[in-house]
Amino acid sequence: MCECADVRMCEFFRLIDQKHSHIRTFAHLHICMLSLYSYHCLMNRKIIITQDGSHSIMQTCEFPEPAISKHSHIRTFAHSHISYHSIYGAIQESMHVFIDSGLKPLLHAQQEVYVFEMGFGTGLNALLTLLYAEKEKKKIYYHTVEAFPLDNYFVEEINYCTQLNRRDLQTAFEQLHNSEWSEDITISPYFNLHKANADFNYYETGKKFHLIYYDAFDPESQPGLWTLPVFKKLFMMLLPGGSLLTYCSKGAVRRIMQEAGFAVEKLPGPAHKREIIRAIK
Ligand SMILES: C[S@@+](CC[C@H](N)C(=O)[O-])C[C@H]1O[C@@H](n2cnc3c(N)ncnc32)[C@H](O)[C@@H]1O
Repeated sequence: MCECADVRMCEFFRLIDQKHSHIRTFAHLHICMLSLYSYHCLMNRKIIITQDGSHSIMQTCEFPEPAISKHSHIRTFAHSHISYHSIYGAIQESMHVFIDSGLKPLLHAQQEVYVFEMGFGTGLNALLTLLYAEKEKKKIYYHTVEAFPLDNYFVEEINYCTQLNRRDLQTAFEQLHNSEWSEDITISPYFNLHKANADFNYYETGKKFHLIYYDAFDPESQPGLWTLPVFKKLFMMLLPGGSLLTYCSKGAVRRIMQEAGFAVEKLPGPAHKREIIRAIK
């Protein structure tokens, strides 16, 4: 099994605990572990080219549906195709949502910024953040969590440095992916990285952040990551005055954010998207 299989196992057993505690016998656990292994094998990812020429990942999974609760967020992956970014342009979307609407105004006002990202994925947000930190010569502490890391094949193929006309950053991009989990790593004088190979639902860090990039799959695909307890947790992770950026502007999500304590504002969206959300503590 791959290095993140333990994370999937935790998630799987959490679902069993929640929904199917009656089947927690040794025999059934054995079947569950086999199912989990199948899930791992059947999850299928491929590189796609989005409209601005930058790559994204399309994920498909054909996990047999009855094995998982209908309402769990793993069901998302059942018979579905989900893309890591907007098909209208991965780079243009990340630039607009996270850098222009979140990082830029903050870095303008202060010398160092603590950023938390939910879902490291392709590393695009981290790369764009690194680029901007270098440009402004300001320090970023970048903390990110990823439950299902990409295999090396993708890291080598993904074209972000070429698309950004920064082939010189390819080594740094690969270092973002290959650096150790759970350690503070200096990628450059202006960029420190801490990656956790974990499920955000269980992840705790004592640290507080100025900025959160909330880049989970959408609420239809991953409802479990758009709930009140999740946004209460995110609220607690922010420093006073800190903000959370997300591409998702659905009314239901905005109401949950407000209930969690955020002041929510709509900002203009990237290509083919009317609005995005900045939620402020
Ligand atoms: C929409 S993609 C965005 C990825 C990344 N920000 C990028 O630009 O490539 C969502 C990411 O969240 C990860 N993910 C899904 N569920 C998770 C969970 N419960 N905890 C941590 N990461 C998760 C996925 O594997 C995927 O990499």
